[in-house]
Amino acid sequence: MSTLEELFSFQSLIFLLLLSLHLYLTYSYLRNSPNKPGFKTYPMVGALPEFLNNRHRFLDWTTRVLRNCPTNTSVFWRPGKVHGIITANPLNVEHMLKTNFHNYPKGDRFIQLLQDFLGQGIFNSDADLWKVQRKAASYEFNTKSLRNFVLENVVVEIHTRLLPILSTGTGSVVDLQDVLERFAFDNVCKLAFNVDPACLGSNGTTGAEFMQAFEDAATLSSGRFMYAFPIFWRIKRFLGLGSERRLKEAITTVHKFADNIIRSRMEAKPEKSEQDLLSRFIGNENSPEFLRDIIISFILAGRDSTSSALSWFFWILSSRPDVEQSILKELQTIRERYGKKIEDITYSFNQLREMHYLQAAISEAMRLYPPVPVDMKACLKEDVLPDGTFVGKDWSVTYHTYAMGRMESIWGNNCDQYMPERWLEEGVCRQESAFRFPIFHAGPRMCLGKDMAYIQMKSIAATVIERFHMEVVADGDDDKFIPQHLLSLTLRMKNGLPVRLTQRQIDIY
Ligand code: HEM
Repeated sequence: MSTLEELFSFQSLIFLLLLSLHLYLTYSYLRNSPNKPGFKTYPMVGALPEFLNNRHRFLDWTTRVLRNCPTNTSVFWRPGKVHGIITANPLNVEHMLKTNFHNYPKGDRFIQLLQDFLGQGIFNSDADLWKVQRKAASYEFNTKSLRNFVLENVVVEIHTRLLPILSTGTGSVVDLQDVLERFAFDNVCKLAFNVDPACLGSNGTTGAEFMQAFEDAATLSSGRFMYAFPIFWRIKRFLGLGSERRLKEAITTVHKFADNIIRSRMEAKPEKSEQDLLSRFIGNENSPEFLRDIIISFILAGRDSTSSALSWFFWILSSRPDVEQSILKELQTIRERYGKKIEDITYSFNQLREMHYLQAAISEAMRLYPPVPVDMKACLKEDVLPDGTFVGKDWSVTYHTYAMGRMESIWGNNCDQYMPERWLEEGVCRQESAFRFPIFHAGPRMCLGKDMAYIQMKSIAATVIERFHMEVVADGDDDKFIPQHLLSLTLRMKNGLPVRLTQRQIDIY
């Protein structure tokens, strides 16, 4: 650490202590709060030491807090007049994401935190800027050709990269999270730019450098959310220190890569047949910077989400041979129905749709480990949530998807158990209300890639499970590997997912 950084840390500490003192003195404000009684209210004051202590296990800590709140909603009081609500209550979620959607945009605070990385892309914009991107992209996502495109790309990536890499890795330890992230990254770049960065199966290429920089930018940007006092990251950015310096470097690499592609595509006069997201937006006379923002948001959406979901899914599966067997049985039934041999590697769109048990098993993994575990909005005008919680103007309101998956009030007293069967009704995977299970968001800003994500995840899971048995490799003396959370913009595993693969015999059944 440089002397400047040490000094900075020391000053931060003094500042924190003084601030805590000041906040304790303002505690009395709570006594007159519109949200008592019945709500668990947390002054950041009182919660500050707790927050600092629990920052590394933020999700479990806040889940515990919400479980103990009568309506699964809590208020965090911060210095000044702007406070924060965290909720795991489906009625509140419906209110903010749909019924009163216009009162709960992303808001300036959220947008500023991610501005350097995401600019004005769809993930980081409100109102007209959001609407224009949503409209153009929805059209693209709804077309049948897109689904075919995705399916074709997924098939090629599985055939030519994923299976060969896993086969080569048989017997040795492979970081499955890394493999899945590279897979998804190649896939979404093809979708967004029609460029294949070939991250899976190659090291040290420009594509791999772009991917690493993208990962760093996402992780370091989301780190800004964890500052108890945002002024600190701003000072660090101003002085070019530590994480902010690294963030700047990562963003520069990401921008350079994206800019090169956009420039060459703009110069090359798009052909009519070219069907990717970029071509749809280039046609609308958008500036190169805006095009870059659009593309970066889409890469983020497609890259981190499915790989996160599948990593947690495979980790759970490694300790649940009963679920693995049920998936294999379902795949066998589908193969028999379609006269499909095991050598025919991938499945068609319709065959994938018939995999109800697999869909249930993946959905159940996402219930417990949602790729986007918390999502924050800002309140435009003073409001009262359906459970009676008062929300002031400019307060942040966060719905906590991770906690919602672990609420008895939603899932019953077996909410902590992994049970794919809870999704099945007469063998069909049922739809859950998007407000009780907001994994893909809900309302007008609902995820555009939901169907695509399931197609991709089921293709990978079915192909891999049929060919390999996976054993998660425990670290040191522990006989059970429990991944630590890495809270980037999505929920990742801190040290990856080390697995040892065994190739199945062809007569696996
Ligand atoms: C398991 C996989 C996925 C999950 C859990 C997921 C979840 C989400 C969530 C929670 C949001 C709302 C984020 C916000 O508040 O801004 C979202 C938005 C979005 N997702 Fe997904 N997503 C997944 C896969 C994908 C894929 C593969 C794509 C396509 C490349 C995609 C495209 C989008 C887009 C474009 C939005 C922005 C929608 C808008 O703001 O109008 N997603 N997704």
